[in-house]
Amino acid sequence: MTAPAHPSDPATTPAASTTPPAASTPGAVRAAAREALERARRRTLALTDCLDDEELCAQHSRLMSPLVWDLAHIGNQEEIWLVRAAGGQDAIRPDLDPLYDAFQHPRAERPALPLLPPEPARRYVAAVRDRALAVLDTARLDHDEADPLLADGFVFGMLAQHEQQHDETMLATHQLRHGPAVLRAPRPAAAPADAADLPAETWIPAGPFTMGTDDEPWALDNERPAHRVDVAGFWLDTVPVSNRAYQAFMADGGYEDPRWWTTAGWAHRVQAGLHAPLFWRRADDPEATPGGWLRRRFGVVEPVPLDEPVLHVCWYEADAYARWAGRRLPTEAEWEKAARHDPATGRSRRYPWGDADPTPELANLGQRHLQPSPVGSHPAGASPHGVRQLIGDVWEWTASDFAPHPGFTAFLYKEYSEVFFGPDYKVLRGGAFGVDPVACRGTFRNWDYPIRRQIFAGFRTARDASPDETAGAGR
Ligand SMILES: [Fe+2]
Repeated sequence: MTAPAHPSDPATTPAASTTPPAASTPGAVRAAAREALERARRRTLALTDCLDDEELCAQHSRLMSPLVWDLAHIGNQEEIWLVRAAGGQDAIRPDLDPLYDAFQHPRAERPALPLLPPEPARRYVAAVRDRALAVLDTARLDHDEADPLLADGFVFGMLAQHEQQHDETMLATHQLRHGPAVLRAPRPAAAPADAADLPAETWIPAGPFTMGTDDEPWALDNERPAHRVDVAGFWLDTVPVSNRAYQAFMADGGYEDPRWWTTAGWAHRVQAGLHAPLFWRRADDPEATPGGWLRRRFGVVEPVPLDEPVLHVCWYEADAYARWAGRRLPTEAEWEKAARHDPATGRSRRYPWGDADPTPELANLGQRHLQPSPVGSHPAGASPHGVRQLIGDVWEWTASDFAPHPGFTAFLYKEYSEVFFGPDYKVLRGGAFGVDPVACRGTFRNWDYPIRRQIFAGFRTARDASPDETAGAGR
């Protein structure tokens, strides 16, 4: 059923560059765009070449598309935006547009569509890519270019992000699929020596900060514009909630006690039969397994590692855990302030550690590993206040609904973000191990339904200052 594994998966090599910093030259933008597009394509092919045609065309879960749909959809979007819109060229395969329009066909319907088989799909995306790179070679990418598609290479950056986001979705399909493992990557390093001694929570002082961005060249519409937000002082977990901590919630009957759940959350818990994170099952010999639980991870069954951030929990589970712990989920503004505000200068950084692109030392991104790093990892990537792992490892659920920043303008089209604004979706921040650096930064916003568990999401918790802590404000 399965093609040979790819032990030297090119998607696991470190990223060379991420996005052009503001005020890059057109030449630097062109090089960054080419590198980002080529890196995305190496990953796309690594995620699809490792499976045979039957598996590529199968629907591994009704939540997901067949992988062959994602593959050709990536090419179709690239044709629409880079070849036709940016390059002004005629369509290559206009007949494919309706088939690969995500809004016309929900995922559950896609296996029944007359999709391109794997080999024609590969030829199609390669042909589109040749034309797209030729457009990139000659496009005007100056910062003051009048066409907003081309200025700072925006549309090329947008398409590299689009492909990487589908690669992340395809990685989730790999996790849902049954069958022998086909993806390989080294395990992350053990936690650093000081991880056990970190304070459980970190104080983020009160005050305004700049949320969102005006000058990140490839930031998407929902990250814009920059605006000031006043945030009351609050306590935030120094590291994401671990499997060990989550198992304490489970062992204390957290899944059986409606006190910890919202009304909607409890109804969902009962109806869906939730009793543990997705992909977990009780060990046959719980006494011999630390914590007593096993998980399936990309085709491998292994004991749940207690010091890893909890993964594959929905928003309702995260929210229930936080209430059980006497805490709450952070708001999106709190999360972004903790991740970006530099108290020394008052400005907001691109990332917790500063403005430099992510490296393997700073954050677990880019599918270099197939799991999060242990809690307390990546001290070099900590925020100025010492909060760790805000970027990478696991997406973090926030308390906030997905809403536009004040002054939001849809760009390039309403279906990118605007149609999703509202109470149906909760915001996730920070990216996960399967997120490429080009699609992850301090302003990047992800959103999903509160019932979703197949995404690579965990969380951390927060609390308000107590009255005596407020009296000592300014600490
Ligand atoms: Fe898409």
